[in-house]
Amino acid sequence: MIRVAELAKSFRLGPITEEVLAGVSFAVAAGERVALLGASGSGKSTLLRILALLEPPTAGSYAIDGVETTGLDDDRLARLRSRQIGVVFQRFELIEDLTALENVGLRLVYRDVPPAEVEAAARAALAAVGLERHAGKRPGEMSGGQQQRVAIARALVGRPRLLLADEPTGALDLATGQEVFELFVERCEEEGVAAIVATHDLDLARRCPRVLELAGGRVVERGGA
Ligand SMILES: Nc1ncnc2c1ncn2[C@@H]1O[C@H](COP(=O)(O)OP(=O)(O)OP(=O)(O)O)[C@@H](O)[C@H]1O
Ligand SMILES: [Mg+2]
Repeated sequence: MIRVAELAKSFRLGPITEEVLAGVSFAVAAGERVALLGASGSGKSTLLRILALLEPPTAGSYAIDGVETTGLDDDRLARLRSRQIGVVFQRFELIEDLTALENVGLRLVYRDVPPAEVEAAARAALAAVGLERHAGKRPGEMSGGQQQRVAIARALVGRPRLLLADEPTGALDLATGQEVFELFVERCEEEGVAAIVATHDLDLARRCPRVLELAGGRVVERGGA
């Protein structure tokens, strides 16, 4: 489903260049569930943003379903992103002026789905994360864990084929975290979604059949569950 080869990313701040990814290569097949581990600052979020097509790599290649994405124009990238990819950001990145329901439904609106269907799908996604009663609240009116669950509902709505989740249970209590992780497992097993989950939670990582660890700008495959 996705394949990256010799992916590199550096950030330049004035005279200093920081090489965060220095030749990352791996592939993930449909239905695979992969935990991405690594110390704080090792580049997990950076890698996920590149895989989400939100930032270009400095070098290397990234193919989705055999289509090379580096060099595609912004329109193609936006279309690929909206049809194929669901992202849970580390800092949620919900739109403050929109309700939970509107935040979740937004990507379907962009896809020209009729309003009644958008609302039904968004309500179902919120119900799946236990937030049906909070659909009308804006992010500022919700707890951190509720906002994180809205972000998860937003990533899962519209049946993405690639799910990228950046510490998706970081703001959740243990039981709620396990419940939302179960949702990811279900999507992978029943719908063949490929999921990459960055986490510091070793219990969560243990429930992924594959574990990739980022260190020194490279990924090392560590046998998972
Ligand atoms: N836009 C940016 N400009 C400059 N440096 C950046 C930028 N984004 C990330 N970095 C740097 O890249 C490195 C990796 O950051 P990243 O957020 O990917 O780490 P992480 O593994 O997700 O860490 P954490 O576990 O704390 O979330 C850090 O040293 C960070 O300072
Ligand atoms: Mg991070």
